Order: sequence, then C-alpha cells, then structure tokens
Amino acid sequence: MAYSEIYRAWQDDPEAFWMEQAKAIDWDRAPTFALDDSRAPFYGWYPDAMVNTCFNAVDRHVRDGQGDRAAIIYDSPITGAKSRTTFAELKEQTARLAGALAAKGVGKGDRVIIYMPMVPEALVAMLACTRIGAVHSVVFGGFAAHELATRIDDAAPKAVIAGSCGIEPGRVVAYKPLLDNAIAAAKHKPAFCVIFQREQLRAELVEGRDHEWHAFQEGAEPADCLPVEGMHPAYVLYTSGTTGQPKGVVRPTAGHLVALNWTMKAVYNVAPGEVFWAASDVGWVVGHSYICYAPLIHGNTTVVFEGKPVGTPDAGTFWRVIAEHDVKSFFTAPTAFRAIKREDPKAECLKAHDISCLRALYLAGERADPDTIEWAQRVMNVPVYDHWWQTETGWPIVANPAGIEPLPVRIGSPTVAMPGYDVQVLSPEGTPVAPGTLGAIAIRLPLPPGTLPTLWNAEERFRKAYLTTFPGYYETGDAGYIDEDGYLWIMARTDDVINVAGHRLSTGAMEEILASHPDVAECAVIGVADQLKGQLPMGFVCLSKGVNKPKETVEAECIQLVRDQIGPVAAFRLCRVVDRLPKTRSGKILRRTMASIADGQEFKLPATIDDPAILDEIREALSGIGYPKAEG
Ligand code: COA
Ligand code: AMP
Repeated sequence: MAYSEIYRAWQDDPEAFWMEQAKAIDWDRAPTFALDDSRAPFYGWYPDAMVNTCFNAVDRHVRDGQGDRAAIIYDSPITGAKSRTTFAELKEQTARLAGALAAKGVGKGDRVIIYMPMVPEALVAMLACTRIGAVHSVVFGGFAAHELATRIDDAAPKAVIAGSCGIEPGRVVAYKPLLDNAIAAAKHKPAFCVIFQREQLRAELVEGRDHEWHAFQEGAEPADCLPVEGMHPAYVLYTSGTTGQPKGVVRPTAGHLVALNWTMKAVYNVAPGEVFWAASDVGWVVGHSYICYAPLIHGNTTVVFEGKPVGTPDAGTFWRVIAEHDVKSFFTAPTAFRAIKREDPKAECLKAHDISCLRALYLAGERADPDTIEWAQRVMNVPVYDHWWQTETGWPIVANPAGIEPLPVRIGSPTVAMPGYDVQVLSPEGTPVAPGTLGAIAIRLPLPPGTLPTLWNAEERFRKAYLTTFPGYYETGDAGYIDEDGYLWIMARTDDVINVAGHRLSTGAMEEILASHPDVAECAVIGVADQLKGQLPMGFVCLSKGVNKPKETVEAECIQLVRDQIGPVAAFRLCRVVDRLPKTRSGKILRRTMASIADGQEFKLPATIDDPAILDEIREALSGIGYPKAEG
C-alpha cells in the first residue's frame, strides 16, 4: 500500500487503524476499543487493556524461540568494552533486578530514578521497572546535582539506580557525588539506592542506603511480568519547558507499545532480527524510544554505544560500528554528523570500513542543515531522512515513511505527517493557513497512541502549556509551514527552548540561575547559531547598583554557576556583562532582536522598542566575543 492510502485509511477510521496495529502486541487482556475521549481534551488509548512492556520487549521473543538472538550489542570505544546480551539473558537479568526491587518494596506505580551512563545495565534497569509496573524516570548523566534534585522532588522516587561514573573524553565523571548532593538537596529522600560500580571509578556507598548492583540482586527471586492497565505510566521523562521546573512527560503503557512497534517497519524500515542503532543517550527520548523500547519490542537488536562521533578514537567510529555490527538503520542527531564532517571532511576514515549493510540514515532532534544532509548522503551513499518529533510525542510526527514507500527527499524538510498526526499550521488566531504560509505548528486533537496524556502531577500545566493557545489542538512550540505537496518545513521555536547539540534546553531555566547570582540585577539568555552544535546559549547580565567587581569575574562566575546548577550539557560558555538590556516600552526584553544581532541577521527594529541606542551596546558586547561570526 502507498503511504497516502495508509494515511487516508487512518483518517477515515482512526479507531480501526489503531485496533489493527494493536494486534502486533501481546496483551494479557486485549483492548476492546482504542480511543477514550470521555475526558476530552484529555485523551487515553486502550484503557481497558492489560499488558506488560517488558514482556513485549523481552519475554515474548524468548517464548517465540528467539532467546539466543542478540537483544543488545554494547560497544564502548571510550572504555574498549564490547558485549552481547541475548534476549534470554536479558530476560534473566531484568527478572532478577525486578525481583530484587520488588523484595525491597518497589511495586506498581512507584517511581524509580535511573541515572546511568550508556551501559546495557541502563536498559536492564528500565526494563526491570516496567516489568513490575514501577515508573522509571531516567535522568541524563550530563545534568548536575541541582537538576537531579529537582527531578527527585517532582517524581518522589522510592529508589534510585545509578552508575558510579560516566566516561567522557579525557575525564571520568563521578556520578555518585552528584547523586549524593542531589539527595541531600532534595526534600524527598528515596528509600534506597542501587549503585552499578564501574571499574573506572568505584563509588563509596552510604551504609544502609546504598546497595551494590550485584550484591543487591544476589539470591533475589526473579519477578514475573506484571500486567498493567493500558494507561498506566510506563515512564516519566523530564524535558525542558520555559521555566526552571522541567516538565515530566508521562508515557502511557499500551499506546507506547503499539505506536513504537508500528514505527520500526513503517519509518525505520527494519525487519525483526535486524540490527538497529540509535546513537543517542538513554537520558533523552531518542534513547527511551529507539535505544531501549522500540527495537526490542519489534524484535530487533539494539546497539548501546558509549562514545562520541569524533575522538573515540576518531571520526571513523560510526562507520566501524555500522560495519562491525551489520547495522541496517542508523539514527543520530545532525550535530554528530557536523562533528564528523568538520574532523574528516573527505571521509577518509570511511575507507577502512564497508558500510554497505546500511539502508538509511535518520536524523532528528534539531534542524538538519542542508550541507550536512548532502555531505552524509554523498559519503555514505544511502538516503538521509530528516524526521521531526518531540519528547512529548515519543515517536515521529513527521517523517519519510521509508518502510511503506520512500517518498522523494526534499532537503530541509522532514517530509510528511505520519498516520495519527493531523498536522496543521495555524495563524495567531488559530485558523489553518494556506500552504506555504508560515505559522505555529499544531496537531489536531486527539494525539495518537503513545503520546503524552498529561504531565506528571501537573495536569493544569499540561493544559496550559499545550492545549490552551489553540483550542482543539496540541501546540508543538515549533513554527513553520506546509508546502503544496504536504511536506512540512520546520523554521523555529516559538518559545524559550533552544537546541544545543540535539539537547533541548530552556533559556528560561538558565536565566533563573543567572538571576540567583548575588551581583546580577537582571539578565537574558538567548540562543545563537553555532556551526557545530546548531545553537549555543549566550547570557547577558546587568549588575546590581554598587557592584564594582571586574566584569570578567562576574562573567566567569555566571558561567560556572550554570555549569554547576544545570550541568556541562548546557554548554554555557558565552556571557557578557552589559549596562542595560533592550526592552519594549512595556518592559519586555527583546531577546529575539538580540539573537538576530548575534547571528548577523537582518531584523526589523521593533516599533515598541524603548531605547534603540541600547542595541549598540549589545552589538559592542557581542563583537567583544567575536559575534556575529563570519559564517553567520
Ligand atoms: N555525562 C556527563 N557529562 C556529559 C555527558 C554525560 N552523559 N554527556 C555530555 N557531557 C558533558 C561533556 O563532557 C561536555 O563537557 P565539557 O563542557 O566539560 O566538555 C558537555 O557535557 C557538553 O557535551 P556534548 O554536548 O557532548 O558536547 P561536546 O563538545 O563534548 O561534543 C558533539 C560535541 C557534537 C560531538 C556531541 O555533542 C555529540 O556527540 N552530539 C550528539 C548529540 C546527541 O546524540 N544528541 C541526542 C539527541 S538525538
Ligand atoms: P526533544 O523533545 O528534545 O526531542 O526536542 C524536540 C524539539 O527539537 C522540537 O520541538 C524541535 O524544536 C526540535 N526538532 C526535533 N527534530 C527536528 C527536526 N527534524 N528539524 C527541526 N527541529 C527539530
């Protein structure tokens, strides 16, 4: 069937479409219907079903005779470690850890925070939670203690499962002191912690609270998979919003299983048994959906890669992993390819590897710039598919349906809406605009299975953040247009979210931290274009009256403060002290205008600007740090 027929079949009868896709899942009690609209605009999917995520990702493959097949290939160029875990081994490992957690009182609905590097045990921990109906919340290792503490307080976990350390090029990041500080800072105290000790840095355990990973599980009775209701949360994943308080995106169990399973063939074009690799991190949604759950649910082998695109040891690492493990479909962020292209523009490193096994490269997480796409296409000789989605949706909204019918690639567009998503571009008044017209990108409700039904403990925030601006729609926070042929083009964010090396960050959160500096009276953080990371955060701070410290000192302190509070992942290295910030007459800081100056873009002077002369001061501050860059 052609993509257009499938999309139309969904449009004509969404209920039938999603009941059909549900047949691929092993239910303990099959759903009798798909959509629950009894609480619109809050929707649910498969609410009367009973099902277990871990059973579908692991146990059923063992049951079906695939126990000896590789579930996880671990490849860690940063440590030199490599291993394979079969589905049978994964079942045994998840059952044992789940049993040990259950023995310590972790049960259905209890939260477990996971703070782990890219090791197979991170997946084991996630799956062990879903096995017993516990709700995991994975926190990315590049976040600092303060961010971890915020998540501990919001999720109120019974337990934390953490690695002793992460390994970054040139340094070992001790996770355990970050965890200890986070627990000390948080109001909520988890009952216990399980620590996976890595040989690169063993952590000191707190007597009575911390348990070593292996000792914790010794003698534990393996736990069976516990069927849960279709809308039971499989996990909560925090993502950046406009404030320092991250949003806890809730993932419902049944819809997650159905939707992810559907995408593996339709979008990523792999058959069960083939190797699928998403080079991301379990701390992000890509890691949840496409390192852990989707490939395993679909019966694929997933690659857990602990390394960087360059420097571990060189720009040929991706090619080696693809060739060595027979990867059929590969997914990463454009920034990774920008890094490889910068280091090895002629792709010399590729000569040593045969990547003819690969069918396609998938890019998402940030804007894929045409140069990078063209370069990747040329050197890899496979189609490069940009696709667009968000933590909130958990799976592609707009993609090239390569496994149904590859559509012609239009470089710069993530292609077309997937079944389940009625994507519209709206005017400020909330009416759909004509093709080619720029507007806010919104999705007509209901969102499809697997997408967020709410925010953790924050239904009102969910409604306000996503459902209020355009009644009847979900507001994505992105702006763009749809062309005459239905291809979507993403142009910008409409809020304070920036995208740094594929990592979604909140400038508002950074402003809150800068404002907490005792010498800072007011501040603004903007995203500026960066050749490698797509965007970088840049801060402007005004000092309180009477502060006579050197500007450079305050700037350095501000940079350190953001690193300490949010973490190195914020990549906050650009900060200038200025006398005043440009504002409208009503006092709104003109962040967009400042970003245009930093990027060397033309802009229209806002009619409401209070004092245009302030812009000259901003220009001067920027030129002091080399902005705008020559490349624009
Ligand atoms: N634990 C601890 N620290 C981490 C970390 C982790 N899991 N991940 C990143 N960091 C640290 C890095 O060490 C770095 O610290 P530094 O300031 O001391 O150098 C900082 O956070 C920024 O890291 P990163 O974004 O990785 O930038 P980089 O300059 O080290 O590398 C790239 C640049 C392009 C190679 C890198 O960003 C990359 O591989 N990006 C791919 C992005 C990706 O997979 N995104 C996921 C969404 S799909
Ligand atoms: P995250 O929730 O971290 O996955 O970030 C989602 C946001 O990243 C989206 O709302 C977009 O702003 C941006 N994004 C993701 N994929 C793309 C893409 N293919 N093109 C442009 N922007 C993207």
